[in-house]
Amino acid sequence: MIETLGELGVLRARVAGWKRDGLRVGFVPTMGNLHAGHFSLVRLARQHADRVVASVFVNPTQFGPNEDYARYPRTPEHDAAGLAAAGCDLLWLPTVETMYPYGADRAVHMRVPGITDVLDGAHRPGHFDGVATVVSRLFNQVQPDLAAFGRKDYQQLAVIRYLVRDLAFPVELLAGETEREADGLAMSSRNQYLDAAQRAVAPEIYRALLAMRDAALAGREMAEVEAEALQRLQRHGFDVDYAQVRRADLSDAGATATAGPHVALVAARLGGTRLIDNLEFAIGA
Ligand code: PAF
Repeated sequence: MIETLGELGVLRARVAGWKRDGLRVGFVPTMGNLHAGHFSLVRLARQHADRVVASVFVNPTQFGPNEDYARYPRTPEHDAAGLAAAGCDLLWLPTVETMYPYGADRAVHMRVPGITDVLDGAHRPGHFDGVATVVSRLFNQVQPDLAAFGRKDYQQLAVIRYLVRDLAFPVELLAGETEREADGLAMSSRNQYLDAAQRAVAPEIYRALLAMRDAALAGREMAEVEAEALQRLQRHGFDVDYAQVRRADLSDAGATATAGPHVALVAARLGGTRLIDNLEFAIGA
């Protein structure tokens, strides 16, 4: 049985009651239209907590003016049923008014410096400020002991780690593995925007990431590795925002990758649909 709440006071009382009973509370924030990737985060949180709260809130402050806020898929019944099956105890469904009592335009905003200047931060100005803003609010509302985020949103996870450390949120962060379709396409709520032809080429992103990793491991020049990935994706009809190899902390990888943890990252559009994916790997000493 899953309980659905929309009143902040009731949510606070429920979580406070659990904590009084000595129970550890896990949290999975989402924007809904849930898939196997989200449900695996619920199961991950469940392994480390006695109670799990998930939120569904399509956050207006993390969408740019020409992005898909209005058409972002909203599937509340499907989400509640899937969360219950995955072992979630409570579904938090705040309204925009609950989340932004003064209105989204007059809200106190977070600004995470440095790591938001590159990649998605550069291509989606203000996006990560919106994510940091809503995640801070969600943490204050739910007051979880731990929260689970997916590795598919690699830069988002880095931003949230920065936020939690910098603002000393007493929240342990868990990172869930990317769930993939059988052909390698990373699961995403935006995959359903793809028509049949676009869906058939979408796994090319994962193939490009594998090729980038192998070329970096082989010691190839980074500029060449990235140019090849760009051309490969363009040949398949993608409009590419970036195809880059970076150090795990998202700093520049250098002319050829040196020893240590790295990540290859791609953001590319098929028609109006923007897809992101990444692949982590380590280069030996
Ligand atoms: O990853 C998402 O679904 C969203 O960015 C998040 C973390 C729920 C904030 O709105």
